[in-house]
Amino acid sequence: MRLNRFLARAGVASRRKSDELILGGTVRVNGEIVAEPGRTVVIGEDRVEVGGRQVWLPEGFEYLLLHKQRGCLVTRRDTHGRPTVFDQIDPLRPGTVAVGRLDQDTTGVLLLTDDGELAFRLLHPSRQVEKRYEALVEGKPDATDLLALRQGVELEEGPTAPAQVRLRGADEREARLEICIHEGRKRQVRRMCAAVGHPVKRLKRVTFAGLGLGRLKPGQWRRLTPGEVRTLRIRAGLDTQR
Ligand code: URA
Repeated sequence: MRLNRFLARAGVASRRKSDELILGGTVRVNGEIVAEPGRTVVIGEDRVEVGGRQVWLPEGFEYLLLHKQRGCLVTRRDTHGRPTVFDQIDPLRPGTVAVGRLDQDTTGVLLLTDDGELAFRLLHPSRQVEKRYEALVEGKPDATDLLALRQGVELEEGPTAPAQVRLRGADEREARLEICIHEGRKRQVRRMCAAVGHPVKRLKRVTFAGLGLGRLKPGQWRRLTPGEVRTLRIRAGLDTQR
């Protein structure tokens, strides 16, 4: 791992401040001052000191909740250089994955973690994790459209499972829907709404597995609290003790 990333992950300073510390000559690796932020250190082998004090990486997994912005991709690296959600997390631990995907234009709750087993389990269809969305759609869905969305609409790969759908407001041009699903198919909400003749204009995920955005603004993230992590792990069948 690069030295500047090591310091950031160890909680010493942000990546940029870590660069300054390193360039300022306050960081030693195995007793020698290293003034190159990009110098590689081997975790568990090299001894890193800042101002004479040894620093370690924190143990355990990291669990983050990001308010995804419109236009950001949920991919580790985009071949066209477009912004990704991973660019927004600093420091970002290696092995961090997004728990599920949101389309480029969808905003809202995105969970990120380096706990691969939890991510895998939360995404497994058998877990039926709840995802709640606010959708602004074209036109005003009538009772038949809403019933179809609730009972299941026919998509290419088969009908969708029952969903909770509420009409939150409408005029002649557009309507606001709250849609809660337990599946995680690709572009599911957009395809469901389009299938009943009301394409989505804007889509936001307001909760994932019961976790909401709180006061996070688009682009901001926070760490989950230990209680939230425990609840998630129980939901994923990983912990049975409360
Ligand atoms: N459904 C969609 O259509 N898009 C998303 O980003 C998430 C759910």
